Amino acid sequence: MAKELIRLSDCTMSFDGEVVLDKINLYIRDKEFLTLLGPSGCGKTTTLRIIGGFQTPTAGDVFFDGVRINAVPPHKRAVNTVFQKYALFPHLNVFENIAFGLRIPKTVEERNADGKVTGRRKEKLSEQEIEERVMEMLRVVNLKGFEKRRVNQLSGGQQQRVAIARALVNRPKVLLLDEPLGALDLKLRKDMQSELKRIQQAMGITFIYVTHDQEEALAMSDTVVVMDQGKIQQIGTPEDIYNEPKNAFVADFIGESNILDGIMRADGVVEIFNRRFACLDKGFEKDEPVDVVIRPEDVDIVPEDQGQLKGTVTAVTFKGVHYDTIVDFYGFKWLIQTTDFCPVDSRIGIKIDPDGIHVMKKSQYSGLFGDYSSYSEEYDEISDADYVPEEEEGESHEE
Ligand SMILES: Nc1ncnc2c1ncn2[C@@H]1O[C@H](COP(=O)(O)OP(=O)(O)OP(=O)(O)O)[C@@H](O)[C@H]1O
Ligand SMILES: [Mg+2]
Repeated sequence: MAKELIRLSDCTMSFDGEVVLDKINLYIRDKEFLTLLGPSGCGKTTTLRIIGGFQTPTAGDVFFDGVRINAVPPHKRAVNTVFQKYALFPHLNVFENIAFGLRIPKTVEERNADGKVTGRRKEKLSEQEIEERVMEMLRVVNLKGFEKRRVNQLSGGQQQRVAIARALVNRPKVLLLDEPLGALDLKLRKDMQSELKRIQQAMGITFIYVTHDQEEALAMSDTVVVMDQGKIQQIGTPEDIYNEPKNAFVADFIGESNILDGIMRADGVVEIFNRRFACLDKGFEKDEPVDVVIRPEDVDIVPEDQGQLKGTVTAVTFKGVHYDTIVDFYGFKWLIQTTDFCPVDSRIGIKIDPDGIHVMKKSQYSGLFGDYSSYSEEYDEISDADYVPEEEEGESHEE
């Protein structure tokens, strides 16, 4: 396992007394692809800005290679940033946009044998060196042959790659990327996701990536940090986060989840709707109230008389690979993804294997997520041409 490179230790950020980051603890390993994931306003950009040095935390410390860097300005950190709004220079061509940072003379410190700074001199790269480094970057981002193009003659995805090349050409140890694919359409987004991952691995650079798109986070990352309301909710591999969510927020934010009230009757036995299910979870108190997550793809549909639970189908939507089937069990609506077509109003039974059940501690998020009633109402509305939304109905009464 690669060594730790950056650490945030109890980092808190307040603006005018309002806490927007609350004691963040996080470390990032060398060459890791780490993603900060969470809804709008949860503190992702603020965390990134603290790492980049654009913001100093109100409390807590930032370490780089074990050295505290709270007071080190951005340009003295071995970190480069690609912002969501990548400001390329419209009057320069692709080559000169990428070469821009290389043309700025670097201040190099001269030291004596004891390591004391004895002087400073400006160092410039030769034209040949600049050319080599820019051409190498053009190869990396698949833009060879585009060097003479003006940037306003490029597509959004090509411009994005120029912005990434411009950040990478300085050979940063760490690249910070704040929703870099936010402006691209879905197809280009997917292409760029694999492109970025390839670049990160080929160049051995640590990526700290911000997105609110959970699919993107799962597809690209070694490590995902799920945030909400200025707090880290869970840190783990994409598989951990999906299969073993820590609380109802994470379960709901990552993928689709049915989240139910349960009672842990014993190790490996959880009760839902007064029925006992075998599960793999243990270590809870006897009879502890818990949240239970069941993913839509982990439910098997069986004939009604063979089901562990029995319910009525209330909506079916064809999704290509599977049907999104909403089933009412005792007044609670579940989403089931299945290749078996079950028509609306049919009675079905379901079975869940022990590894399809995941038990979580109760949290502040309990009861907030995981019921698909509103989901199926949306479909009811779409299929009912005479449906009048409640608000509009209210307005018409006032007339
Ligand atoms: N300079 C500032 N002054 C006051 N409040 C700020 C400042 N910067 C950020 N905030 C607040 O801090 C919170 C977190 O903001 P941040 O930009 O980190 O969110 P985010 O997770 O990046 O959201 P988004 O996905 O919308 O970009 C928000 O409530 C925001 O309004
Ligand atoms: Mg942001």
